[in-house]
Amino acid sequence: MHIYETKTFDLPTLEGISDKSVEEHLGLYSGYVKNFNAMTELLQDLAKDSEKNAHALSELIRRRSFEFGGMRLHEHYFAQFEGGAKEIENDSKLAQALTKQYDSVESVVTQITHVGNMRGPGWSILYYDPQSESFHIGFTGEQHQGHFVTLPIIIALDVWEHAFLLDYGAAGKGKYIDAFFKNLNWSVIEKRFENVKKEA
Ligand SMILES: [Fe+2]
Repeated sequence: MHIYETKTFDLPTLEGISDKSVEEHLGLYSGYVKNFNAMTELLQDLAKDSEKNAHALSELIRRRSFEFGGMRLHEHYFAQFEGGAKEIENDSKLAQALTKQYDSVESVVTQITHVGNMRGPGWSILYYDPQSESFHIGFTGEQHQGHFVTLPIIIALDVWEHAFLLDYGAAGKGKYIDAFFKNLNWSVIEKRFENVKKEA
C-alpha cells in the first residue's frame, strides 16, 4: 500500500554538514517511508489470519510507529534547511514568545543543545502547546518514544549518530549540533509557530 511518498527537499550546500552526509541521510529517510508503506501492507495481509499471525502482528504494530516517527521527523528536519540559513527576526512572534518563556532565544538554543547531547539515539525537540501557550523541550528516544503527544513540533534536531558520524566521528555530536543551528532557516521555524497559533 502506497500511503506516503518520499518527499524531496530543496537543500543548499550546508556549512559543516557535508553533501555526502546529507545524501546518505536522505537515503535513510526514504527507507522510513518505504518501510512504513510496506509494513502497512503486510499488516493487512497478516490480519486475515490474526490468530495464527498474532506474534508477527504485534511486533509489526509496535514497530510501525518507529517507522512513522522516522519519516515525519526527518521531513521536519530537512525542511528546516530549505532556503538557506536565516537568523531569527527579533520582532517575530516566535522570538517574542521564546524570549518571554526562556529570557532569550540563545538560552532556548542552549537548552535544545543540552537535550541533544543526552546519550542515546534520538531527537531533541522543541514543541509548542497552544493550550498553555508554552514551549516544551524533550528528548525523543529512537523516533517514537517520549513524544509530548499531540503537540506540534517547532524544531526537530536529529541526534542519531548517522547525522554526524561521517563529518565529525563518533565523538562529534557537539560540533554537529553547532553546525545544525548555523544552517537553520529560522523563517521556516517562525512560519511553523505562526501556523500553530493560527490553528489554535
Ligand atoms: Fe536521521
